[in-house]
Amino acid sequence: MRRHEPIAAALLAWRLFLAAALLAAPGAVWAQSPPAFTPREENPEEFPAGPGRDDTFYACTACHGFKLVAQQGMNRRQWEEILQLMNEKHGMAALEGKERETVLNYLEATFPPRTPAGGGWQNPFSNR
Ligand code: HEC
Repeated sequence: MRRHEPIAAALLAWRLFLAAALLAAPGAVWAQSPPAFTPREENPEEFPAGPGRDDTFYACTACHGFKLVAQQGMNRRQWEEILQLMNEKHGMAALEGKERETVLNYLEATFPPRTPAGGGWQNPFSNR
């Protein structure tokens, strides 16, 4: 299929470019790090600092982006319900003891309900 040759050539050129870029990067070792093209990947530093941030980030991003977590605003009881939901419905390993405290403390302090008490908006997770 001659018509596909330009595409194959472009792909080859791209691979060569990638290889050259990786080899040129100081300290780049094939086995060491995955290619640098992972723009969707999140990083704990993108989220508000606080005790337990990294633990929480890694506990939750095993399955989904942390933005899904950070866009919520809930009180501690509601966060507890979320942890339970992740555990029961989505198969998250139950957080226990100190780890659970750390995660809940961070979530409660960092992503509290956004409206003042008695405000109009009701969190959909609230079942009071
Ligand atoms: C074992 C996998 C798993 C882990 C670990 C996990 N979740 Fe989830 N979570 C899910 C799935 C699956 C969904 C629903 C699908 C989606 O929206 O991506 C979800 C959805 C959510 C939602 C949105 C709820 C909704 O109904 O829209 C929140 C909030 C949430 N997770 C919080 C957390 C927090 C906080 C943690 C870390 C403490 C966490 N999750 C860890 C699997 C997980």
